[in-house]
Amino acid sequence: MRVVCVLLGVLVAGARAVVLPQITEPPCDSLEAEAAAAFFQDYINAQRTTGFKFALNQIDKIKIRTLPDMEIYKMELDLLETKCHVLDPTPVAACPVRTKAEVAVDADCDVAFIKSGGVLKVTEHRCKTEPESAEDMCLGCPQLLPLNDTNALQMATVSLAAFNNRTANVSISKYAVLEVGRLSTQVLAGGTHVFAEYAIVETNCTTTDDGDCVPLNKAVATYGFCRAGSASAGMAVDCRIFEPQLAVEPAMNGTVPATNSTVPTTNNTVPASSGIMPLLMVDMMLSAESAESLDPVKVASVIPIVKRQAPVAETVAPGGEPAAVPFVPICPGKKKHF
Ligand SMILES: *[C@@H]1O[C@H](CO)[C@@H](O)[C@H](O)[C@H]1NC(C)=O
Ligand SMILES: *[C@@H]1O[C@H](CO)[C@@H](O)[C@H](O)[C@H]1NC(C)=O
Ligand SMILES: *[C@@H]1O[C@H](CO)[C@@H](O)[C@H](O)[C@H]1NC(C)=O
Ligand SMILES: *[C@@H]1O[C@H](CO)[C@@H](O)[C@H](O)[C@H]1NC(C)=O
Ligand SMILES: *[C@@H]1O[C@H](CO)[C@@H](O)[C@H](O)[C@H]1NC(C)=O
Ligand SMILES: *[C@@H]1O[C@H](CO)[C@@H](O)[C@H](O)[C@H]1NC(C)=O
Ligand SMILES: *[C@@H]1O[C@H](CO)[C@@H](O)[C@H](O)[C@H]1NC(C)=O
Repeated sequence: MRVVCVLLGVLVAGARAVVLPQITEPPCDSLEAEAAAAFFQDYINAQRTTGFKFALNQIDKIKIRTLPDMEIYKMELDLLETKCHVLDPTPVAACPVRTKAEVAVDADCDVAFIKSGGVLKVTEHRCKTEPESAEDMCLGCPQLLPLNDTNALQMATVSLAAFNNRTANVSISKYAVLEVGRLSTQVLAGGTHVFAEYAIVETNCTTTDDGDCVPLNKAVATYGFCRAGSASAGMAVDCRIFEPQLAVEPAMNGTVPATNSTVPTTNNTVPASSGIMPLLMVDMMLSAESAESLDPVKVASVIPIVKRQAPVAETVAPGGEPAAVPFVPICPGKKKHF
């Protein structure tokens, strides 16, 4: 402990001249938190080329460091997998998330943003994605299969052949499997069902061609998405071809004008004059609180991180002891789904 105190003293003394940044922790459901989270949601969905879109479920944490020319946001966000493939032009707001019974997939993200000149930009993100644990799943709920499950992949192939064969002698594009997104199995009254969800891409063949078919060039190909299911009674397939997306949307170049909402001053602000939070320690404080640090920089880990406690409002009951009123947490924010 003695070492720690000495170090602290040195840091404080050495940091006198540094302009101390102001840290604010707005409520997780505040407009600015929502705006940043929505921005990240769009960013992450625009960035990915495989898998399903993710929708914001909950804002777990937000810290904003205000510097003279910019604000640095650090947030922890919780997103849920939707049923829309990333190539599906459906806006994520219109994409249903997978329910728990359908084996929801959850993404925990640590995100850093810079807001400068009214423009928000994602500078770093780290997401950990995993299916919700099977513990609270019902009997007869779908079970995920590994994406290399031979049986289910075979079913997917056959189902796409059936889709390609949908028009007997009209010559239209043939599609090929682009990516298998989800395979599952479910025990139902009629026996064991197998389900496949996969993205498809237009090939250079038409439905009347045989032989070598290769996916068309990205610039001209159309894409689609199929859901197929089979049981002993037979197979069903439902494919939707997406409207061609003409140009790659330039809006998602990492920067989009952010909302102009000003940071509401909250009383969670670290007083800039307190003198115990030099810049160096602020960095550590921001990163040390999440297990997955966004800042790979490790600085003097012997220094204890002084976590600020949630303030406890004290009221004095008439003629009695001060009664501690529990502080109503402003984070995490409310869950949008479950
Ligand atoms: C699927 O992949 C896993 C690990 O990558 C492997 O152990 C397993 O043998 C594979 N199964 C099949 C059917 O290819
Ligand atoms: C294609 O459809 C025709 C009838 O529409 C059917 O006779 C044929 O077996 C189908 N082929 C495949 C590969 O499904
Ligand atoms: C093509 O379709 C027409 C009308 O649907 C049908 O009469 C004809 O027999 C079909 N030809 C072949 C080769 O399947
Ligand atoms: C599609 O492209 C492949 C490879 O270039 C070629 O071998 C094949 O003949 C083409 N198929 C058609 C129907 O043009
Ligand atoms: C992204 O934006 C930067 C700066 O505005 C620009 O230089 C760059 O070319 C853009 N990249 C793409 C892929 O549009
Ligand atoms: C947002 O901020 C920009 C520049 O800071 C300003 O030009 C614009 O008028 C503001 N918009 C609104 C709606 O306040
Ligand atoms: C913060 O607290 C101070 C005094 O404790 C009070 O004067 C001020 O109005 C508070 N600010 C907000 C935004 O609640």
